[in-house]
Amino acid sequence: MQKHLRLQDFQDYDRFTRANIINSLSGFKSASLIGTVNEQGQTNLAIFSNIVHIGADPALVGFINRPLEAAPHTLSNIQETGSYTINHISAAIFPQAHQSSAKYPADISEFDATGLTPLFREGIRAPFVAESLVQYSLELQQIIPIELNGTFFVIGAIQDIFYPEEIQEEDGFLALEKAGSLCSLGTSAYYETKRLGKLAYAKADSARK
Ligand SMILES: Cc1cc2nc3c(=O)[nH]c(=O)nc-3n(C[C@H](O)[C@H](O)[C@H](O)COP(=O)(O)O)c2cc1C
Repeated sequence: MQKHLRLQDFQDYDRFTRANIINSLSGFKSASLIGTVNEQGQTNLAIFSNIVHIGADPALVGFINRPLEAAPHTLSNIQETGSYTINHISAAIFPQAHQSSAKYPADISEFDATGLTPLFREGIRAPFVAESLVQYSLELQQIIPIELNGTFFVIGAIQDIFYPEEIQEEDGFLALEKAGSLCSLGTSAYYETKRLGKLAYAKADSARK
């Protein structure tokens, strides 16, 4: 039987149940680890799934950061240094990646707490995650506060991209399933992916025959 939840119904749920329902609705997401460092050199790592492609030229990616009281460190480090990395998560590291969402104090690095390895590269301020197979660095472009709920939309320009060359197809496409990049649903479930097909660019005159 189909269930119908009205606004009043889900508003009446406790906050955790409501969050679990609402977080599921926008669907499967890429889940990645964002690596940052502050001015004092203290590293930080946190898992984020609300990451979106904004445009390819210039190459811009955005993510949603929760209100500062809930998730302060990634955002303040990005504001301080302008630099951050996004690192895909594979099956081998998903429990550690998940653990990075715990509320650690500012002086504890989630790299130490989770056992993931920070990887610093020449000319890039923020650390990558050494265990991650697909990694890219960004320079902060804009932080847009969303007044509706105190969240922030953080936009960065992609600078450097690292991935295993065997996952790249002739047209440039990166077959992320070959790197084992996972996706997530809500804030607790993780999935592997399987490609159903890769279709040609859709044109209006090639619709239903
Ligand atoms: C699967 C998953 C996805 C998450 N996605 C986001 C997200 O997109 N944005 C966000 O602000 N927090 C997200 N979180 C919560 C952050 O990981 C958590 O608030 C973290 O403590 C932020 O750390 P920070 O203060 O070091 O930045 C997610 C957590 C999980 C488990």
